[in-house]
Amino acid sequence: MKAIEIKSLTKNFGEKQALKGLNMTVPVGSIYGFIGENGSGKSTTEKIICGLIHPSGGEVKLFGKDYTDADVRAKVGVLIEAPGCFANYSVWNNLMLQAANLSIKNPEEEIRKVLKLVRMEGAAGNKFKNCSLGMKQRIGIAMALLGDPELLVLDEPINGLDADGMRIMREVLTDLASRGRTILVSSHILGELEKIATHYGIIRGGKMIKEMTATELEAGCRTFVAVTAKDMIKTKTILQGKYSRIEEENGYIRVYGATNPEEIVTYLYENGILVSEIKTAKIGLEEYYIDLMKEKGAN
Ligand SMILES: Nc1ncnc2c1ncn2[C@@H]1O[C@H](COP(=O)(O)OP(=O)(O)O)[C@@H](O)[C@H]1O
Ligand SMILES: [Mg+2]
Repeated sequence: MKAIEIKSLTKNFGEKQALKGLNMTVPVGSIYGFIGENGSGKSTTEKIICGLIHPSGGEVKLFGKDYTDADVRAKVGVLIEAPGCFANYSVWNNLMLQAANLSIKNPEEEIRKVLKLVRMEGAAGNKFKNCSLGMKQRIGIAMALLGDPELLVLDEPINGLDADGMRIMREVLTDLASRGRTILVSSHILGELEKIATHYGIIRGGKMIKEMTATELEAGCRTFVAVTAKDMIKTKTILQGKYSRIEEENGYIRVYGATNPEEIVTYLYENGILVSEIKTAKIGLEEYYIDLMKEKGAN
């Protein structure tokens, strides 16, 4: 079963077509990285999944049922934009309020559980306003976790976090997924997303242009050999005589499709070039994304 299955989703805001037939499939237990430039429709899609706004057309199924189904709604926890908290209340009291809103039966026990999950056990007594941005984002996730949802929808949760905040967030999300929860997380910080996502969806102009698993990304990411030598121009010309895709990037000449550095060293040596440095590497999510955007053109 899929946690989220969306078909031909459309959403109009007056004249503005925010979603133009979006398809999306999110498997249970995945960390699904939802990627796209500003205004591409990520938040709109997430708000529909969370039942905050309604589609103009198309189908949205969560755990095999229509997204409006009451059983299904109880399975979804949300953090879209900043958590609605009282600045002068403690973290604990903010969570107590939310627990009361949700009519949660054992609020103390539940709150202790979610605070532990987001690594905030020690900060329950802090006033919300004195918490760092990273802590506030985790309080938001703790709130979303009240009621034990199976699907968490997080809109840009790592925006603005420092390195430490990102690391803790990464641990929290990986830990939640290892407990069987499904996480839909939008972000444009691709380097971070790449460390945790098991699946990706790339949206552009209200349409899904690519969905893939992390394994597929890994396989699809072109490997290359990067070389430096004293005379870069001559080296490049010589390499172009044998290999079809050569690019200069960050002070290296990249030979795409080549996986054997020895062969390149030998070939260059035979042509009078001594290699100063050579390494094999892969393009990551960031470059993959930029290349895909170029490939798909301006629309
Ligand atoms: N309430 C709204 N009224 C009018 N236009 C909206 C509204 N919400 C979003 N949009 C528009 O829909 C498009 C998609 O927005 P959004 O889903 O917020 O994108 P993202 O989250 O990917 O940045 C944008 O062009 C945005 O201006
Ligand atoms: Mg957004």
